[in-house]
Amino acid sequence: MPNSLNVVILAAGRGTRMHSDLPKVLHCLAGRALLDHVLATARALKPARLCVVYGYGGDALPKAVQGNDIVWALQARQLGTGHALQQALPHLDAQGVTLVLYGDVPLTRQDTLQRLLQQAGSDSMAVLTVALSDPTGYGRIVRDTDGRVARIVEQKDASDAEKRINEVNTGIIAAPTARLARWLAGLSNDNAQGEYYLTDTIAMAVAEGMPVATSHPHHEWEVLGVNSKLQLAELERVYQRNYAEKLAGLGATIMDPARLDVRGDLVCGQDVIIDVNCVFEGSVTLGSQVKVGANCVLKNVSVAEGTQIQPFSHIEEAQIGANCRIGPFARIRPGTALASDAHVGNFVEIKNSQIGSGSKVNHLSYVGDATVGSKVNIGAGTITCNYDGANKHRTVIEDEVFIGSDTQLVAPVTVGRGATIGAGSTITRDAPAGELTLSRMKQLTITGWQRPTKKSKR
Ligand code: UD1
Ligand code: MG
Repeated sequence: MPNSLNVVILAAGRGTRMHSDLPKVLHCLAGRALLDHVLATARALKPARLCVVYGYGGDALPKAVQGNDIVWALQARQLGTGHALQQALPHLDAQGVTLVLYGDVPLTRQDTLQRLLQQAGSDSMAVLTVALSDPTGYGRIVRDTDGRVARIVEQKDASDAEKRINEVNTGIIAAPTARLARWLAGLSNDNAQGEYYLTDTIAMAVAEGMPVATSHPHHEWEVLGVNSKLQLAELERVYQRNYAEKLAGLGATIMDPARLDVRGDLVCGQDVIIDVNCVFEGSVTLGSQVKVGANCVLKNVSVAEGTQIQPFSHIEEAQIGANCRIGPFARIRPGTALASDAHVGNFVEIKNSQIGSGSKVNHLSYVGDATVGSKVNIGAGTITCNYDGANKHRTVIEDEVFIGSDTQLVAPVTVGRGATIGAGSTITRDAPAGELTLSRMKQLTITGWQRPTKKSKR
């Protein structure tokens, strides 16, 4: 591994074919900007300097992407890849090797770059190349009769014979920084695109007798760039497939690896089962034996062992205890904690509430800003009226309470331990422990009452 490594990420281009106001490298793959993926790979190489060349979109890039370790180099006009790298030079350590990455090539693996870097030093450079069945559009690797790299010719400058070469430049190169600086200063833009080509430095190295090595990625997708929304979607699928393979390799059952989306980090215990079409965002942890039914969305959630989440449930910023049963069609919102063995059933919304162990909210309820004890049963259609139009108030439901169906609990209000609330009540004052409380009109019957009948029209 060379000392004082510089990594430069070229990200000044607009990405015209994205048809978007957002700079291309800020488009998301697996929930993170393309540039963030490249930065993560770059950081894993522990470079002495990490420089991003930006241009299109102006400050949008430095504003959107975090990192005190990043040096931002502005390329005000996009005059070519060689010109772009030149903008980074003042920020680099001249002693070391510089590795050039593209901000729109998100899936390059660290070991591929490490192999490339092993071939670059103070007197050698290396290019990551790949043989493509259709090389159209790429720069071609022109070799001499002995098979040594001679130069790179861009598609638009290539002869018919050169266009038939299928070994292409991925754009990822590693070269000694001091020599690069000299070569870049000598670039001309006398070519089909009127650009300063970084690729012209290869012929310059060869002219100085410097060996130009090549190495190759294990997988083609490692060097695929994003130029359009379709290519972005295709690389998303590659990423997700790889993630599914990783999880399955660690013992999770992924019902269909083609129908899993992880936009962040998903950690699974043993014997986790994930049914189709689930989306995991942010940081999600599933304990052993957890089962997630089809079409669930979980964001920043931890789920303890044995819990079953049934289809179409949406859970966000919550902690779920062991052996709970959730859904189908449950919505659990931020600030919620379920203790073990809690049940949350269909069409139940829970927000910013603690639900004690063994408690059940099984049907069609809203529980917001509530503290619910253990072994509580909340009947169908119960609503905590937590908002008075200006402020939120808490509802406290102590252990072993039974709330009858269709009850409104107007907060702030406390239902004492072991209390029973009669169905259909509107509870506006604290209900004492151990007693039955209800607020309900007494039932009455009007005997002999007749239903109105329809008058005939004449
Ligand atoms: C480049 C290579 C080509 C290679 C291909 C791989 C050159 C001259 N050509 O071509 O050999 O096969 O990539 O995809 O290097 N960029 C800037 N500033 C600029 C121009 C580009 O920052 O002035 C950035 C872009 O944002 C992008 C990268 O450099 O991330 C590559 O630019 P692009 O225009 O896609 O180069 P290609 O013509 O595809
Ligand atoms: Mg390109």
